[in-house]
Amino acid sequence: MSNAHRVALVTGCSRAQGIGFEVCRQLGQLGMAVFLTARDSGKAEALASTLRDEGLDVTGHALDISNAESVRSIIEVIGNQHGKLDILVNNATGSAGRNMAPPSTADLDGARQIIEVTLLGTWRITQAAIPLLRKSGHARIVNVSSSAGLHSDPLLGLTGKSKAPPAYGIAKAALNALTARFSDELHEAGIKVNAVCPGFTATFPRMEELGARTVSEGAKGIVWAATLDNTGPSGGFYRDAQLLEW
Ligand SMILES: NC(=O)c1ccc[n+]([C@@H]2O[C@H](COP(=O)([O-])OP(=O)(O)OC[C@H]3O[C@@H](n4cnc5c(N)ncnc54)[C@H](OP(=O)(O)O)[C@@H]3O)[C@@H](O)[C@H]2O)c1
Repeated sequence: MSNAHRVALVTGCSRAQGIGFEVCRQLGQLGMAVFLTARDSGKAEALASTLRDEGLDVTGHALDISNAESVRSIIEVIGNQHGKLDILVNNATGSAGRNMAPPSTADLDGARQIIEVTLLGTWRITQAAIPLLRKSGHARIVNVSSSAGLHSDPLLGLTGKSKAPPAYGIAKAALNALTARFSDELHEAGIKVNAVCPGFTATFPRMEELGARTVSEGAKGIVWAATLDNTGPSGGFYRDAQLLEW
């Protein structure tokens, strides 16, 4: 499948050290037209400009996936410019920073914010994108998930003494479930839908010292799922192209 004239939308690209920015770079390097999006249009445009300086076809746009009007607007822009969408990477996630309390005492407003973005925001942009994705003929949706949404992960998973904020893992497990349901529904349209864990990735300074992989390495598995050929899998949860039991 040629990458020329393929169109990709990536959510949650507000930081140069973030995984979303690197996914935009790797998709751009494959020759695609990439819509790099962030809540703050200034950040999106500045980051897109960096990638254009590298010779890539990347434009920056505002997108808040919690806001129906913002979602409608970006889909309208892509529809007007290209009439289709080939790849949707749902990379955005709600902030987990201050929500480390166990379920019995977790702040439910914080939990709601994480679930609103990670699950419902992803659901919202995916629903809105489906008409354009159907026009691709071979579209791919990648939901960026986490080992926090696995039962089996010994450090961050849902069972055992997890070190992940509960709402984050619960939202990611629900995202895996949403992935399976969308995959079933969209199968007949040739649309493959997978969840991908990037692995523990150095998206902040000094994380390599804690054993994190590079952002380039973390983004690779997402790009793999975004560029699957027609024989590729759908409905699963992957890390480094390996199926995870969640
Ligand atoms: N880094 C890791 O080790 C790791 C491991 C497993 C999974 N992941 C996953 O990888 C993805 C990228 O994470 P990252 O580490 O690169 O961190 P990140 O830069 O913080 O990525 C999260 C992005 O989501 C955006 N966002 C939050 N609310 C939003 C909304 N309503 N609409 C649109 N965007 C919104 C944030 O934008 P603002 O700046 O505007 O808040 C930010 O750009 C996430 O899904 C994360 O769960 C990361």
